[in-house]
Amino acid sequence: MQSLRGTKDILPQEIHGWHIVEDRIRYITSLYGYRELRNPIMEYTEVFKRAVGEDTDIVGKEMYTFPDRGGDSITLRPEATAAVVRSAIQHNLTAQQQIARVYYSGPFFRYERPQKGRQRQFHQFGCELLGASSPEADIEILTLAHDFLESLGIKSRELHINTLATPEIRQLFKQELISYFTAHLSDLSEDSQSRLQSNPLRILDSKHPGDKALSANAPRMQDMLDTESKDHFSKVLSHLDSLSIPYTVNPLLVRGLDYYSHTVFEFTSTALGAQDALGGGGRYDHLFEHFGGKHTPSIGFAFGIERLLLAMSAQESISEAPKPEIYVIGFESEESRRAVISCAHALRTLSGKQVIVDVQNRSLKAQMKEADKLGVKQVVIIGPEEALHDTCIVKDLSTGMQHTKLMTELHNMFS
Ligand code: HAM
Repeated sequence: MQSLRGTKDILPQEIHGWHIVEDRIRYITSLYGYRELRNPIMEYTEVFKRAVGEDTDIVGKEMYTFPDRGGDSITLRPEATAAVVRSAIQHNLTAQQQIARVYYSGPFFRYERPQKGRQRQFHQFGCELLGASSPEADIEILTLAHDFLESLGIKSRELHINTLATPEIRQLFKQELISYFTAHLSDLSEDSQSRLQSNPLRILDSKHPGDKALSANAPRMQDMLDTESKDHFSKVLSHLDSLSIPYTVNPLLVRGLDYYSHTVFEFTSTALGAQDALGGGGRYDHLFEHFGGKHTPSIGFAFGIERLLLAMSAQESISEAPKPEIYVIGFESEESRRAVISCAHALRTLSGKQVIVDVQNRSLKAQMKEADKLGVKQVVIIGPEEALHDTCIVKDLSTGMQHTKLMTELHNMFS
Protein backbone atom coordinates (compact mmCIF):
# COMPACT_ATOMS: atom_id res chain seq x y z
CA MET A 1 0.00 0.00 0.00
CA GLN A 2 1.29 3.46 -0.90
CA SER A 3 0.19 6.99 -0.04
CA LEU A 4 -1.98 8.75 -2.66
CA ARG A 5 -0.17 10.44 -5.56
CA GLY A 6 0.52 14.05 -4.68
CA THR A 7 0.31 13.45 -0.91
CA LYS A 8 3.26 13.04 1.43
CA ASP A 9 3.97 11.60 4.85
CA ILE A 10 5.86 14.20 6.84
CA LEU A 11 8.39 11.98 8.57
CA PRO A 12 9.89 12.42 12.06
CA GLN A 13 13.27 13.25 10.52
CA GLU A 14 11.66 16.11 8.54
CA ILE A 15 9.41 17.54 11.22
CA HIS A 16 11.92 19.96 12.75
CA GLY A 17 11.65 22.35 9.76
CA TRP A 18 7.85 22.30 10.11
CA HIS A 19 8.13 23.15 13.78
CA ILE A 20 10.42 26.10 13.00
CA VAL A 21 7.84 27.44 10.51
CA GLU A 22 4.98 26.85 12.95
CA ASP A 23 6.87 28.65 15.76
CA ARG A 24 7.50 31.62 13.46
CA ILE A 25 3.80 31.66 12.45
CA ARG A 26 2.77 31.93 16.09
CA TYR A 27 5.41 34.50 16.89
CA ILE A 28 4.86 36.89 13.97
CA THR A 29 1.05 36.70 14.09
CA SER A 30 1.13 37.48 17.81
CA LEU A 31 3.29 40.58 17.14
CA TYR A 32 0.57 41.87 14.81
CA GLY A 33 -2.40 40.82 16.96
CA TYR A 34 -3.77 38.08 14.66
CA ARG A 35 -5.64 35.19 16.28
CA GLU A 36 -6.03 31.71 14.87
CA LEU A 37 -9.22 30.63 13.12
CA ARG A 38 -9.60 26.88 12.57
CA ASN A 39 -12.17 26.15 9.89
CA PRO A 40 -13.35 22.67 8.89
CA ILE A 41 -11.41 20.97 6.09
CA MET A 42 -14.62 20.46 4.11
CA GLU A 43 -17.30 22.94 3.11
CA TYR A 44 -20.34 22.95 0.86
CA THR A 45 -19.03 23.12 -2.72
CA GLU A 46 -20.99 26.33 -3.25
CA VAL A 47 -18.66 28.22 -0.84
CA PHE A 48 -15.68 27.85 -3.19
CA LYS A 49 -17.66 28.04 -6.43
CA ARG A 50 -19.13 31.34 -5.45
CA ALA A 51 -15.93 32.90 -4.04
CA VAL A 52 -13.10 31.57 -6.18
CA GLY A 53 -15.13 31.67 -9.41
CA GLU A 54 -16.54 29.02 -11.76
CA ASP A 55 -14.12 29.93 -14.56
CA THR A 56 -10.94 29.50 -12.52
CA ASP A 57 -8.68 26.44 -12.76
CA ILE A 58 -9.24 25.76 -9.06
CA VAL A 59 -13.01 25.40 -9.36
CA GLY A 60 -13.08 24.11 -12.92
CA LYS A 61 -10.40 21.42 -12.71
CA GLU A 62 -8.81 21.03 -9.32
CA MET A 63 -11.36 20.58 -6.55
CA TYR A 64 -11.89 17.35 -4.66
CA THR A 65 -15.68 17.38 -4.79
CA PHE A 66 -18.01 14.53 -3.91
CA PRO A 67 -21.61 13.94 -2.86
CA ASP A 68 -21.85 12.86 0.77
CA ARG A 69 -24.26 10.16 1.91
CA GLY A 70 -26.98 12.73 2.43
CA GLY A 71 -26.64 13.93 -1.18
CA ASP A 72 -24.94 17.27 -0.43
CA SER A 73 -22.05 18.34 -2.64
CA ILE A 74 -18.97 18.63 -0.45
CA THR A 75 -15.50 19.96 -1.33
CA LEU A 76 -12.17 19.50 0.43
CA ARG A 77 -10.97 23.09 0.82
CA PRO A 78 -8.65 24.18 -2.02
CA GLU A 79 -7.96 27.51 -0.25
CA ALA A 80 -9.01 29.30 2.92
CA THR A 81 -10.29 32.78 2.12
CA ALA A 82 -13.76 31.63 1.02
CA ALA A 83 -14.20 29.59 4.20
CA VAL A 84 -12.89 32.43 6.39
CA VAL A 85 -15.47 34.79 4.91
CA ARG A 86 -18.23 32.18 5.23
CA SER A 87 -17.38 31.74 8.90
CA ALA A 88 -16.91 35.49 9.58
CA ILE A 89 -20.47 36.06 8.35
CA GLN A 90 -21.87 33.03 10.18
CA HIS A 91 -20.28 34.09 13.51
CA ASN A 92 -20.53 37.84 13.05
CA LEU A 93 -16.79 38.38 13.44
CA THR A 94 -16.96 41.85 11.93
CA ALA A 95 -20.17 43.03 13.60
CA GLN A 96 -20.52 46.77 14.35
CA GLN A 97 -17.73 47.92 12.05
CA GLN A 98 -15.26 45.76 13.93
CA ILE A 99 -12.08 44.61 12.32
CA ALA A 100 -11.07 40.96 12.55
CA ARG A 101 -7.45 39.86 12.28
CA VAL A 102 -7.22 36.11 11.75
CA TYR A 103 -4.66 33.55 10.67
CA TYR A 104 -4.80 29.86 9.76
CA SER A 105 -2.51 27.02 8.84
CA GLY A 106 -3.31 23.51 7.78
CA PRO A 107 -3.89 21.15 4.85
CA PHE A 108 -5.49 22.14 1.53
CA PHE A 109 -6.37 20.05 -1.50
CA ARG A 110 -6.06 20.65 -5.23
CA TYR A 111 -6.07 17.98 -7.93
CA GLU A 112 -3.01 19.25 -9.81
CA ARG A 113 -0.19 17.43 -11.60
CA PRO A 114 2.33 16.80 -8.82
CA GLN A 115 5.85 18.17 -9.28
CA LYS A 116 8.50 19.92 -7.16
CA GLY A 117 6.62 22.34 -4.90
CA ARG A 118 3.22 21.17 -6.12
CA GLN A 119 1.17 18.54 -4.31
CA ARG A 120 -2.44 17.48 -4.16
CA GLN A 121 -2.49 17.79 -0.40
CA PHE A 122 -0.35 20.76 0.60
CA HIS A 123 -0.25 23.17 3.55
CA GLN A 124 -0.83 26.88 3.75
CA PHE A 125 -0.29 29.55 6.37
CA GLY A 126 -2.40 32.63 5.74
CA CYS A 127 -3.64 35.84 7.33
CA GLU A 128 -6.81 37.81 6.65
CA LEU A 129 -7.54 41.36 7.78
CA LEU A 130 -11.32 41.71 7.56
CA GLY A 131 -13.17 45.02 7.54
CA ALA A 132 -10.61 47.67 6.49
CA SER A 133 -10.29 49.34 3.10
CA SER A 134 -7.34 51.69 3.72
CA PRO A 135 -3.90 51.39 2.11
CA GLU A 136 -2.62 51.09 5.71
CA ALA A 137 -4.47 47.76 5.95
CA ASP A 138 -2.68 46.59 2.80
CA ILE A 139 0.61 47.62 4.33
CA GLU A 140 -0.10 45.76 7.57
CA ILE A 141 -0.67 42.57 5.59
CA LEU A 142 2.35 43.13 3.33
CA THR A 143 4.73 43.88 6.21
CA LEU A 144 3.45 40.91 8.18
CA ALA A 145 4.18 38.66 5.19
CA HIS A 146 7.58 40.34 4.70
CA ASP A 147 8.55 39.99 8.38
CA PHE A 148 7.50 36.34 8.33
CA LEU A 149 9.78 35.54 5.36
CA GLU A 150 12.61 37.51 6.99
CA SER A 151 12.18 35.56 10.22
CA LEU A 152 12.56 32.31 8.28
CA GLY A 153 15.76 33.62 6.70
CA ILE A 154 14.40 33.28 3.13
CA LYS A 155 16.64 35.71 1.27
CA SER A 156 16.15 34.61 -2.34
CA ARG A 157 12.78 36.26 -2.79
CA GLU A 158 10.96 38.97 -4.70
CA LEU A 159 7.71 40.80 -4.06
CA HIS A 160 5.59 41.41 -7.18
CA ILE A 161 2.67 43.75 -6.83
CA ASN A 162 -0.13 45.03 -9.05
CA THR A 163 -3.58 46.57 -8.87
CA LEU A 164 -6.71 45.00 -10.32
CA ALA A 165 -8.73 48.19 -9.64
CA THR A 166 -12.51 48.00 -9.25
CA PRO A 167 -14.83 45.31 -10.70
CA GLU A 168 -16.23 47.88 -13.16
CA ILE A 169 -12.81 48.80 -14.51
CA ARG A 170 -11.80 45.18 -14.62
CA GLN A 171 -14.88 44.48 -16.74
CA LEU A 172 -13.84 47.18 -19.23
CA PHE A 173 -10.30 45.86 -19.17
CA LYS A 174 -11.55 42.33 -19.90
CA GLN A 175 -13.38 43.62 -22.98
CA GLU A 176 -10.21 45.36 -24.18
CA LEU A 177 -8.23 42.16 -23.66
CA ILE A 178 -10.82 40.07 -25.51
CA SER A 179 -10.66 42.41 -28.53
CA TYR A 180 -6.85 42.47 -28.47
CA PHE A 181 -6.38 38.71 -28.14
CA THR A 182 -9.18 37.92 -30.64
CA ALA A 183 -7.17 39.82 -33.24
CA HIS A 184 -4.27 37.39 -32.54
CA LEU A 185 -6.31 34.27 -31.92
CA SER A 186 -4.20 31.84 -33.95
CA ASP A 187 -1.03 32.80 -32.01
CA LEU A 188 -2.63 31.99 -28.64
CA SER A 189 -2.06 28.64 -26.91
CA GLU A 190 -5.00 26.22 -26.91
CA ASP A 191 -5.51 26.82 -23.19
CA SER A 192 -5.67 30.57 -23.64
CA GLN A 193 -8.02 30.29 -26.62
CA SER A 194 -10.46 28.39 -24.44
CA ARG A 195 -10.10 31.01 -21.67
CA LEU A 196 -10.46 33.98 -23.93
CA GLN A 197 -14.14 34.70 -23.31
CA SER A 198 -14.46 33.43 -19.74
CA ASN A 199 -11.24 34.58 -18.07
CA PRO A 200 -9.03 36.67 -20.41
CA LEU A 201 -7.00 38.08 -17.48
CA ARG A 202 -5.39 34.69 -16.90
CA ILE A 203 -3.83 34.83 -20.37
CA LEU A 204 -1.60 37.60 -19.01
CA ASP A 205 0.15 35.25 -16.59
CA SER A 206 0.32 32.26 -18.97
CA LYS A 207 3.78 30.67 -19.19
CA HIS A 208 3.32 29.69 -22.88
CA PRO A 209 5.96 31.54 -25.00
CA GLY A 210 3.43 32.65 -27.67
CA ASP A 211 1.02 33.96 -25.00
CA LYS A 212 3.88 35.73 -23.24
CA ALA A 213 4.95 37.53 -26.39
CA LEU A 214 1.37 38.68 -27.03
CA SER A 215 0.84 39.71 -23.40
CA ALA A 216 3.90 41.95 -23.51
CA ASN A 217 2.04 44.25 -25.92
CA ALA A 218 -1.47 43.75 -24.54
CA PRO A 219 -3.51 46.68 -23.15
CA ARG A 220 -2.49 47.62 -19.60
CA MET A 221 -4.80 48.01 -16.63
CA GLN A 222 -2.53 50.89 -15.51
CA ASP A 223 -3.76 52.97 -18.43
CA MET A 224 -7.39 52.55 -17.40
CA LEU A 225 -7.20 53.21 -13.66
CA ASP A 226 -9.70 55.57 -11.99
CA THR A 227 -8.42 58.15 -9.48
CA GLU A 228 -9.40 56.13 -6.42
CA SER A 229 -7.58 52.99 -7.59
CA LYS A 230 -4.55 55.02 -8.62
CA ASP A 231 -4.42 56.79 -5.24
CA HIS A 232 -4.84 53.61 -3.28
CA PHE A 233 -2.10 51.84 -5.18
CA SER A 234 0.38 54.72 -5.06
CA LYS A 235 -0.13 55.06 -1.28
CA VAL A 236 0.60 51.35 -0.82
CA LEU A 237 3.77 51.68 -2.91
CA SER A 238 4.93 54.78 -1.06
CA HIS A 239 4.50 53.00 2.30
CA LEU A 240 6.59 50.12 0.95
CA ASP A 241 9.22 52.66 -0.10
CA SER A 242 9.32 54.27 3.33
CA LEU A 243 9.67 50.87 4.98
CA SER A 244 12.45 49.97 2.52
CA ILE A 245 10.61 46.82 1.44
CA PRO A 246 11.77 46.09 -2.11
CA TYR A 247 9.11 45.31 -4.74
CA THR A 248 8.50 45.14 -8.47
CA VAL A 249 5.29 46.46 -10.01
CA ASN A 250 4.22 43.69 -12.36
CA PRO A 251 1.30 44.68 -14.62
CA LEU A 252 0.93 41.05 -15.73
CA LEU A 253 0.22 39.78 -12.21
CA VAL A 254 -3.48 38.83 -12.09
CA ARG A 255 -3.71 35.87 -9.62
CA GLY A 256 -5.78 32.76 -10.23
CA LEU A 257 -8.81 33.51 -8.06
CA ASP A 258 -11.72 35.74 -9.06
CA TYR A 259 -12.39 37.57 -5.80
CA TYR A 260 -9.60 40.15 -5.96
CA SER A 261 -9.79 43.89 -6.54
CA HIS A 262 -7.20 46.67 -6.04
CA THR A 263 -3.92 45.40 -4.55
CA VAL A 264 -2.68 41.93 -5.52
CA PHE A 265 0.78 40.56 -4.81
CA GLU A 266 2.98 37.49 -4.92
CA PHE A 267 6.25 36.55 -3.24
CA THR A 268 8.42 34.42 -5.53
CA SER A 269 11.71 32.67 -4.94
CA THR A 270 14.41 31.66 -7.40
CA ALA A 271 15.15 28.66 -5.14
CA LEU A 272 11.88 26.99 -6.17
CA GLY A 273 12.05 26.18 -9.90
CA ALA A 274 8.93 26.26 -12.09
CA GLN A 275 6.47 26.61 -9.19
CA ASP A 276 8.16 29.75 -7.95
CA ALA A 277 5.38 31.37 -5.88
CA LEU A 278 6.07 31.16 -2.16
CA GLY A 279 2.73 32.79 -1.55
CA GLY A 280 0.34 35.44 -2.68
CA GLY A 281 -2.72 37.40 -1.83
CA GLY A 282 -4.61 40.59 -2.29
CA ARG A 283 -7.63 42.69 -1.53
CA TYR A 284 -11.12 41.23 -1.81
CA ASP A 285 -13.52 44.09 -1.11
CA HIS A 286 -16.69 42.47 -2.46
CA LEU A 287 -16.51 38.87 -1.29
CA PHE A 288 -18.70 39.34 1.78
CA GLU A 289 -21.50 40.70 -0.44
CA HIS A 290 -21.18 37.66 -2.73
CA PHE A 291 -21.98 35.56 0.33
CA GLY A 292 -24.97 37.70 1.30
CA GLY A 293 -23.03 39.60 3.99
CA LYS A 294 -22.61 43.36 4.32
CA HIS A 295 -19.86 45.29 2.55
CA THR A 296 -16.63 44.32 4.34
CA PRO A 297 -13.47 45.28 2.45
CA SER A 298 -10.67 42.89 3.31
CA ILE A 299 -7.18 41.77 2.39
CA GLY A 300 -5.02 38.71 3.05
CA PHE A 301 -2.34 36.33 1.85
CA ALA A 302 -1.35 32.69 2.03
CA PHE A 303 2.03 30.97 1.82
CA GLY A 304 2.60 27.36 0.78
CA ILE A 305 4.46 25.76 3.68
CA GLU A 306 6.12 23.06 1.53
CA ARG A 307 7.50 25.82 -0.70
CA LEU A 308 8.78 27.81 2.29
CA LEU A 309 10.62 24.69 3.43
CA LEU A 310 12.07 24.11 -0.05
CA ALA A 311 13.37 27.68 -0.14
CA MET A 312 14.76 27.36 3.38
CA SER A 313 16.56 24.11 2.69
CA ALA A 314 17.93 25.39 -0.63
CA GLN A 315 19.84 28.02 1.34
CA GLU A 316 20.44 25.70 4.28
CA SER A 317 18.64 27.92 6.75
CA ILE A 318 16.96 25.08 8.66
CA SER A 319 18.81 24.65 11.95
CA GLU A 320 19.60 21.16 13.24
CA ALA A 321 16.93 19.40 15.31
CA PRO A 322 17.74 19.45 19.05
CA LYS A 323 19.51 16.30 20.26
CA PRO A 324 18.61 14.32 23.38
CA GLU A 325 20.69 15.57 26.28
CA ILE A 326 20.94 12.62 28.65
CA TYR A 327 21.05 8.84 28.12
CA VAL A 328 20.58 6.76 31.27
CA ILE A 329 22.18 3.34 30.98
CA GLY A 330 21.50 0.19 33.02
CA PHE A 331 22.44 -3.42 32.33
CA GLU A 332 22.51 -7.01 33.57
CA SER A 333 20.62 -6.86 36.87
CA GLU A 334 16.93 -6.23 37.50
CA GLU A 335 17.92 -3.60 40.15
CA SER A 336 20.01 -1.74 37.62
CA ARG A 337 17.15 -1.56 35.09
CA ARG A 338 14.67 -0.48 37.78
CA ALA A 339 17.02 2.26 38.97
CA VAL A 340 17.34 3.51 35.37
CA ILE A 341 13.59 3.85 34.98
CA SER A 342 13.14 5.85 38.17
CA CYS A 343 16.27 7.95 37.56
CA ALA A 344 15.18 8.85 34.01
CA HIS A 345 11.71 9.73 35.26
CA ALA A 346 13.10 11.98 37.99
CA LEU A 347 15.55 13.69 35.59
CA ARG A 348 12.85 14.47 33.04
CA THR A 349 10.65 15.98 35.74
CA LEU A 350 13.44 17.90 37.50
CA SER A 351 15.40 19.17 34.53
CA GLY A 352 12.87 19.36 31.70
CA LYS A 353 15.59 17.84 29.50
CA GLN A 354 15.15 15.09 26.93
CA VAL A 355 16.21 11.80 28.56
CA ILE A 356 16.50 8.53 26.62
CA VAL A 357 16.67 5.00 28.06
CA ASP A 358 17.15 1.60 26.46
CA VAL A 359 13.94 -0.46 26.18
CA GLN A 360 15.46 -3.52 24.50
CA ASN A 361 17.60 -4.94 27.32
CA ARG A 362 20.80 -4.26 25.44
CA SER A 363 24.38 -4.43 26.68
CA LEU A 364 26.35 -1.50 28.14
CA LYS A 365 28.41 -1.36 24.94
CA ALA A 366 25.33 -1.24 22.68
CA GLN A 367 23.78 1.52 24.78
CA MET A 368 26.99 3.58 24.79
CA LYS A 369 27.12 3.23 21.03
CA GLU A 370 23.55 4.43 20.67
CA ALA A 371 24.14 7.39 23.02
CA ASP A 372 27.07 8.39 20.84
CA LYS A 373 25.02 8.02 17.66
CA LEU A 374 22.20 10.14 19.07
CA GLY A 375 24.72 12.85 19.94
CA VAL A 376 23.74 13.06 23.64
CA LYS A 377 25.84 15.26 25.87
CA GLN A 378 25.87 13.15 29.01
CA VAL A 379 25.34 9.53 29.95
CA VAL A 380 24.35 8.39 33.41
CA ILE A 381 25.40 4.79 34.05
CA ILE A 382 23.66 2.82 36.81
CA GLY A 383 25.20 -0.64 36.58
CA PRO A 384 24.44 -3.51 39.02
CA GLU A 385 27.12 -2.23 41.47
CA GLU A 386 25.90 1.38 41.38
CA ALA A 387 22.29 0.25 41.78
CA LEU A 388 23.18 -1.56 45.02
CA HIS A 389 24.80 1.58 46.47
CA ASP A 390 22.39 4.21 45.18
CA THR A 391 25.11 5.78 43.07
CA CYS A 392 25.74 6.39 39.37
CA ILE A 393 28.53 7.36 36.99
CA VAL A 394 28.03 10.62 35.08
CA LYS A 395 30.07 10.78 31.90
CA ASP A 396 30.44 13.82 29.66
CA LEU A 397 30.67 12.45 26.12
CA SER A 398 32.38 15.50 24.65
CA THR A 399 35.29 15.55 27.16
CA GLY A 400 35.25 11.87 28.22
CA MET A 401 35.41 13.02 31.90
CA GLN A 402 33.45 10.88 34.36
CA HIS A 403 32.55 11.07 38.06
CA THR A 404 30.75 8.81 40.49
CA LYS A 405 27.84 10.53 42.23
CA LEU A 406 25.22 9.71 44.80
CA MET A 407 21.73 9.62 43.27
CA THR A 408 20.76 12.56 45.48
CA GLU A 409 23.72 14.54 44.10
CA LEU A 410 22.65 13.70 40.56
CA HIS A 411 19.15 15.00 41.23
CA ASN A 412 20.61 18.22 42.64
CA MET A 413 22.80 18.61 39.55
CA PHE A 414 19.76 18.71 37.27
CA SER A 415 17.16 20.47 39.37
P1 HAM B 1 -2.95 30.85 -3.99
O1 HAM B 1 -1.99 31.68 -4.77
O2 HAM B 1 -3.89 29.99 -4.76
O3 HAM B 1 -3.74 31.84 -3.06
O4 HAM B 1 -2.15 29.93 -3.00
C1 HAM B 1 -1.22 30.48 -2.09
C2 HAM B 1 0.05 29.64 -2.06
O5 HAM B 1 -0.27 28.27 -1.73
C3 HAM B 1 0.79 29.51 -3.39
O6 HAM B 1 1.58 30.65 -3.64
C4 HAM B 1 1.64 28.29 -3.14
O7 HAM B 1 2.79 28.60 -2.38
C5 HAM B 1 0.72 27.42 -2.29
N1 HAM B 1 0.08 26.40 -3.15
C6 HAM B 1 -1.02 26.52 -3.91
N2 HAM B 1 -1.29 25.36 -4.54
C7 HAM B 1 -0.33 24.49 -4.17
C8 HAM B 1 -0.04 23.11 -4.47
N3 HAM B 1 -0.83 22.40 -5.28
N4 HAM B 1 1.03 22.53 -3.89
C9 HAM B 1 1.83 23.24 -3.05
N5 HAM B 1 1.61 24.53 -2.72
C10 HAM B 1 0.55 25.15 -3.28
C11 HAM B 1 -4.73 31.46 -2.20
O8 HAM B 1 -4.94 30.32 -1.86
C12 HAM B 1 -5.45 32.64 -1.59
N6 HAM B 1 -6.51 32.11 -0.70
C13 HAM B 1 -4.50 33.55 -0.84
C14 HAM B 1 -5.21 34.70 -0.19
C15 HAM B 1 -5.51 34.83 1.11
N7 HAM B 1 -5.70 35.75 -0.82
C16 HAM B 1 -6.30 36.55 0.08
N8 HAM B 1 -6.20 35.97 1.25
